[in-house]
Amino acid sequence: MIKVLVNDGMHQDGKTRLEEANFQVDTNNIPQDELINRLPEYDAVIVRSATKIRKELIDQCPNLKLIARGGVGMDNIDVEYARSKGIKVMNTPKASSQSVAELVIGHMFSLSRFLHRSYLEMPTSGHSNFKALKKSYAKGQLVRGKTLGIIGFGRIGQELASSAIGMGMNVIAYDIRDGNVDVPIKSPMLEGQNFTISIKISTMETLLTKSDFISIHVPSTDKPILGAAEIAKMKKGVILINSARGGTIDEDALIEGLNSGQVSAAGLDVFVNEPTPRADLLGHPKVACSPHIGASTVEAQRNIGLELADGLRQHFQ
Ligand code: 3PG
Repeated sequence: MIKVLVNDGMHQDGKTRLEEANFQVDTNNIPQDELINRLPEYDAVIVRSATKIRKELIDQCPNLKLIARGGVGMDNIDVEYARSKGIKVMNTPKASSQSVAELVIGHMFSLSRFLHRSYLEMPTSGHSNFKALKKSYAKGQLVRGKTLGIIGFGRIGQELASSAIGMGMNVIAYDIRDGNVDVPIKSPMLEGQNFTISIKISTMETLLTKSDFISIHVPSTDKPILGAAEIAKMKKGVILINSARGGTIDEDALIEGLNSGQVSAAGLDVFVNEPTPRADLLGHPKVACSPHIGASTVEAQRNIGLELADGLRQHFQ
């Protein structure tokens, strides 16, 4: 029987699909520092972003045949090293794109109408100070008609573009690959119609200088893509969203930008120091935060679980 450790959780449907194929699936989390003693008994391990599978751990697990990442980013796994040891490494790149895109849109609307502040302040002073709060949130802005700059135009970037176009936004995309990308516009109302919009990849300069909103969708980077120099080039009052990885924006530069007014607000789902992000960023009045939940919808969790189960079944059978 193939023994699988699922260390960061898995949708029940995925677990069931594995058990139906006679896999032994253990879903009790093993703390990171105990993995070195416990992982060697498993044939496969399934993780999200919380568990780290580094070289030292891989070296202690000669029986390990597969490492599966439920999700997209594999920066928590020493992928090349594992592969050099003959271990299969897989992820689920498609399963959560729409969920991440919708979280970005949630942050855009929230910040455009100060909902993140209003949700905090209404319960405490909404009763005694209703008129003052109404006045302080009176300068909201429409999203329709504005320009969204998308840095990284892979699956998630394209899903975001598709939804943003549907909401009446203009989209500028930057990617390391050049050319045009045909973005499908999706709605049950367009059933049977193949409706796409062709987006030409722009330069970073164009994106930075012309966007009202900027959202990042690239893998983990060694150094920030958006630092002080890039922020200085942006339109004054830009709104930044990061649901990719914490280090893709320089957090010091972001705070400076927010304080100077160059950046009017930021929506952050990811942070440099997860799971203990810096407090001045979390508490900043112009920041709306969420705890790395881009892929955390019921639909994405299920897609991820089923895709993982199919991947494991295919590999071991
Ligand atoms: C990803 O890379 O798939 C996302 O950042 C989601 O991370 P999670 O699996 O920890 O929710």
